[in-house]
Amino acid sequence: MTTQLTASGVLSDRALITAFAETPRHVFARRAGGTAASAPVSSAYSDRVIPTRYVDTFDGALTVTSSLSQPTVVAIMLELLHLRGGENVLEIGTGLGYNAALLCHRLGDQNVTSVDIDPHLVDAARECLTEIDHHPTLAAVDGEAGYPARAPFDRILATCALDHVPRPWLGQLREDARVVLPLTYGGLLMVLRFSAGVLSGRARDEGVYFMRMRHSADEPGTPSSEPQGEYRHRTIDIDQYEVTSEEFTPWLELSLPDVRALSFGAEVRLGTETGHARITDDAHGTVVEEWGTPFFDEVVEAWHAWREAGRPRRDRFGLSVTETEQWAWVDEPDSDHRWPLTDDSPLLPAGTNLPSHR
Ligand SMILES: C[S@@+](CC[C@H](N)C(=O)[O-])C[C@H]1O[C@@H](n2cnc3c(N)ncnc32)[C@H](O)[C@@H]1O
Repeated sequence: MTTQLTASGVLSDRALITAFAETPRHVFARRAGGTAASAPVSSAYSDRVIPTRYVDTFDGALTVTSSLSQPTVVAIMLELLHLRGGENVLEIGTGLGYNAALLCHRLGDQNVTSVDIDPHLVDAARECLTEIDHHPTLAAVDGEAGYPARAPFDRILATCALDHVPRPWLGQLREDARVVLPLTYGGLLMVLRFSAGVLSGRARDEGVYFMRMRHSADEPGTPSSEPQGEYRHRTIDIDQYEVTSEEFTPWLELSLPDVRALSFGAEVRLGTETGHARITDDAHGTVVEEWGTPFFDEVVEAWHAWREAGRPRRDRFGLSVTETEQWAWVDEPDSDHRWPLTDDSPLLPAGTNLPSHR
């Protein structure tokens, strides 16, 4: 696995290469439920996501709430942290602790704090990490509040997708700190720098799709949207390839935050809380099937706006966060294309003594 990640150019930092080579992923994979537990050790070293925890949704279905991320994505995000040694790092989303183990190998246990909303996972992660003799600071808390007791941080790495940057994080970053996080909008992977009280930066050109940040352990990681309600279909004249491309989804999901791209490829589906759309092609054009509250006309409007803006690709998107506001943007923070992001988190978490920036 490490040889492949290095050959593909994803891993290049020598100390991280050693961390990958010497950290046994199978110790974490075998804690996963279902088939992974009995799967051969070698299967833990393929470049695949391994689901590790499920919760029941109210309709009796199971949804995944934690997984061992794909090694390529883990490597990309760790490289983006630009670790030089000695940095104090906070990871949001411990899962079973594989990433935390890599960070411990790279930085030493004393520099690693990792938190997860699910206490069951934190217990399991502690056992897995102890087995390979790593002892970072672990806590079962909502990562929205950061982890003031171990601040200030030089790096924050989120391994769950966020629709905004939690305001408490700003007070826990050291000057010049780096934050790497996936946004829910089209899987934008952001690399942000903290300077003079402002956290700002741009997206990478690769998209990463993580389960969303939850605020209770029983909440599903990814809300489902099933076709239901009144059915309609029509054929319309749009470029089906573009409207359903991953290039367009960051713009689409920022412009229409209620709309989620549910699947790509042979069958493209979009969903909202109350509506569902399936987009396919036939000999006459693009067929749009809709169930429930219609929303596809708004998708088409957003697509026209995206084309007029020059079809911005992922790496033209950015994000800026101050104490009082935050917004996503295209090209520059003050561009005409901006989307304010809502942060419902309190200005300061109750009872917190924020460290001063150094
Ligand atoms: C993709 S998994 C993390 C994988 C893990 N980093 C690894 O190395 O295998 C995402 C994790 O984020 C956690 N999570 C979701 N919402 C959270 C929150 N508010 N605070 C902390 N963790 C959260 C989930 O419980 C889940 O374990």
